[in-house]
Amino acid sequence: MKLIHTPLEMKQWRRTVIQSIGFVPTMGALHAGHEELLKRSRKENEISILSIFVNPTQFNDPKDFEKYPLTWEADLKIAQKNHVDVLFAPNKSLMYPDDYHFKVIENDFSQSLCGRDRPGHFDGVLSIVMKLFQLIEPTKSYFGEKDYQQFQLIKDMTKAFFMNVEVLPVATIREKSGLAMSSRNVRLSEKEKLEIAPIIYKTISECKSAPEAKAQLQTYGFKVDYVEDRNNRRFVAVHLNDVRLIDNVPI
Ligand code: PAF
Repeated sequence: MKLIHTPLEMKQWRRTVIQSIGFVPTMGALHAGHEELLKRSRKENEISILSIFVNPTQFNDPKDFEKYPLTWEADLKIAQKNHVDVLFAPNKSLMYPDDYHFKVIENDFSQSLCGRDRPGHFDGVLSIVMKLFQLIEPTKSYFGEKDYQQFQLIKDMTKAFFMNVEVLPVATIREKSGLAMSSRNVRLSEKEKLEIAPIIYKTISECKSAPEAKAQLQTYGFKVDYVEDRNNRRFVAVHLNDVRLIDNVPI
């Protein structure tokens, strides 16, 4: 596995490659959900690239950024196990030489759901993904459906800017309990992970309406940011103590 740390080296390496490239952008703390993205990438492309970069501009809450899990050694093992060809792990000053004076902004869908509770979050996501796509020029890129709003916005951005990358969704990987896999789950206690957080998926899957699901989650003690039905999916975001969890299901 080749390790690249700078945008310049990435651009130079990219010029030498003519094969198809599958790309999985992440913020590390890799889990089985990321492994599924890497498996798809390997299956459908000649070369697989993984990026690990905890992107500061998408954290509206600095405390959330500070608490984001960093698991570099374990991530390296997962990357190797999944036959990643290139691991791109840059730092902030190299990815934001302009100090974030330039950004990609979407004015509609990004303002709803998670965007309403996390101002600027999707500007940060779209801006960093645009930068990564410019450097890596992937053939295909893979995103988990757990972050469905993110997947849809990135797909729409590539259409809006006529970009030559296919943005593909990968179904959410769940624990046996139904809880959607997420890097944030490591911040839950055993009881929260095994008994309380799984209620989120069960409730949005079983309730007849979004208001009913919201009321039920509140009864269980969750602080609910939203439960909303849109485009044939039910979206949810809740807080369990200081951990924000999201999920969505087709309806
Ligand atoms: O889903 C994530 O891990 C991040 O939002 C992404 C797409 C890697 C951008 O930083």
